Amino acid sequence: MEQWMKLLRFNSLRTSEDATDVETFKVRLARWFAIRRIRTSFFAATIILVLVLSIHFIDLTTVSRAVHQVKSDPPQISNRPPKVDDGVVWSNYAYVQYVTNENYLCNSLMILEALHRSGSKADKIMLFPENWQLSNEIGSENRMMLNQARERYETKLIPISVQTSTKGDPTWKDSFTKLLAFNQTQYKRVISLDSDATVKQHMDELFLTPSSPVAMPRAYWLDQPFLSSQLILLEPSTVEWDRIKTYIDQKDSGFDMDILNTIYKDSCIVLPHRRYNLISAEFRGSSESHRKYLGSEEAWNGTLVLEEAKFVHFSDWPLPKPWIKASESDIADRQPECRKGTGGGGDDCTDRDIWLNLYKDFSERRQRVCGHQYDKRDTPTTATSSHRVRSKYDFEVI
Ligand SMILES: *[C@@H]1O[C@H](CO)[C@@H](O)[C@H](O)[C@H]1NC(C)=O
Ligand SMILES: *[C@@H]1O[C@H](CO)[C@@H](O)[C@H](O)[C@H]1NC(C)=O
Repeated sequence: MEQWMKLLRFNSLRTSEDATDVETFKVRLARWFAIRRIRTSFFAATIILVLVLSIHFIDLTTVSRAVHQVKSDPPQISNRPPKVDDGVVWSNYAYVQYVTNENYLCNSLMILEALHRSGSKADKIMLFPENWQLSNEIGSENRMMLNQARERYETKLIPISVQTSTKGDPTWKDSFTKLLAFNQTQYKRVISLDSDATVKQHMDELFLTPSSPVAMPRAYWLDQPFLSSQLILLEPSTVEWDRIKTYIDQKDSGFDMDILNTIYKDSCIVLPHRRYNLISAEFRGSSESHRKYLGSEEAWNGTLVLEEAKFVHFSDWPLPKPWIKASESDIADRQPECRKGTGGGGDDCTDRDIWLNLYKDFSERRQRVCGHQYDKRDTPTTATSSHRVRSKYDFEVI
């Protein structure tokens, strides 16, 4: 007990001592502040501190934005030695884009950007009309995009003569140019990708599949057997190119997809369309079409299907391609339905959200990659013949 008292006394003593200390400190501070010069310097110092802090903060946000840009758009590393990885000489392989007119340049640039961003090790080449080499043949915007492909996405630009045909729909006459991929004999194997699509991940692994002149996925939404030329894995060869050329020159051989089906449908490797050839209309589809896509009875899960997909082709006839603005009412009429909720939950709009997001992502990327002039400035429209919006192979949901 006595010890307790001692302790208490000690405590109270300490408290009063502290109080006195605080008191004297306050008094000293007050006196000190009474001196004008000190007061002024104190306020000046505070203002400078606030200024420095805010400038620093602005700096930080700018820096973080710049870092973000670099991340989504890595700079070019030029003159790299051949990339050899696990014994694979990646410079034997290339992704091919072909451009026949200025309207498609931005689409191709977006594909090249996506391949670059997703870390593909193979080469990238862009076939472009040879007359564009003359400076007065294309506008400065387009010249900049060609440079962007070469400098930032490490793309080789290859001038070609556009392969046209006088027959059929004029909007399709240049599609044979795609087949020039067979003439790129400087490569062992190339992948040709249609540019009205989104590349979600690179597909370098396809270059390492067993050798075959041509490999294509099925056009799974059509009556089978029929192969889709939206993605073609092929081995360039003079023999094959000569063979194809005779079909291009023939009347009634159809378009690029018909020619490839005529020549290769019974002999080529069939790539899985699941992952490699998803079309946007699948998210508007019925369980019947989902079975065709999935190739099994498994339950449809839009989130999972999108997650695993590497290549999504825009195909929603009669809605226009994603760089043309569709009218609000057409979108409202055609967008995927929400599924009625079960067990008390709300409606499930996953497929609708995924579908709308595919279009939104395309539109945003178009501006980011090609510049603000590529904002959707076209007036709302449904499909018109002046744009290559429909082939007879496009998927239609009735
Ligand atoms: C095919 O490739 C060869 C060799 O590179 C080239 O000389 C020829 O012009 C090409 N053909 C076409 C139609 O581009
Ligand atoms: C669908 O797949 C996603 C992603 O794998 C998963 O998180 C989700 O639980 C799945 N939904 C259903 C209903 O199975």
